[in-house]
Amino acid sequence: MTAPFTIAVDGPAAAGKGTISKAVAEHFGLAHLDTGLLYRVVGAKTLTGTDAIAAALALRAEDLAAANLRTPEVAQAASKVAVIAEVRAALIDFQRAFARRAGGAVLDGRDIGTVICPQAEAKLFVTASAEIRAHRRWLELTETGHDVTPDEVLTDVKARDERDTNRAEAPLKPARDAVQIDTSEMSIADAISAAIVAVSDKRPQR
Ligand code: CDP
Repeated sequence: MTAPFTIAVDGPAAAGKGTISKAVAEHFGLAHLDTGLLYRVVGAKTLTGTDAIAAALALRAEDLAAANLRTPEVAQAASKVAVIAEVRAALIDFQRAFARRAGGAVLDGRDIGTVICPQAEAKLFVTASAEIRAHRRWLELTETGHDVTPDEVLTDVKARDERDTNRAEAPLKPARDAVQIDTSEMSIADAISAAIVAVSDKRPQR
């Protein structure tokens, strides 16, 4: 059996991590976990009155398939619960177990290369300007029927960037050995190709 191969993909809100991670996982035949969903599940539960730490401790894999996790309200709630040390601690084992599953996995989030999987074999840090990220997220949200203005989405993205970058626990930052990919001027296809090339450099020949 070959050793697991873990790919960590971090970066700010709406940088394209999800699209890139999914494509990279498919290319290399690995499982993919969008760790933002864990925080979104916990954030969504706080909107209906559940305590954040209790929600994180009770999280199950099935919860990640819940509807309505992609709304702007849930995104804000997610980034608010994500500053709580006990919430982050409660979610660590699930993420590490996923990362080390047979064959390996791609995990995307904010602290995968720095805290969750500092030993990941390949690390990417995906960025783009706040304006471009907000525009992409606005297109996604309006296409899925959300009634939001471009300005509201930019304000939301900047507020989350600020909170994610400046928190004490596991702040958003590139790991020292991460390959940075700025997708501001790239097509989706180019960004995916750049990510596959960066990972191929780290992957042993099989
Ligand atoms: O999809 P998008 O980039 O907008 O956000 P997400 O990845 O679903 O993450 C939602 C929120 O969860 C982020 O703003 C972070 O505050 C938090 N998060 C985190 O703290 N650590 C992670 N590994 C993933 C998400």
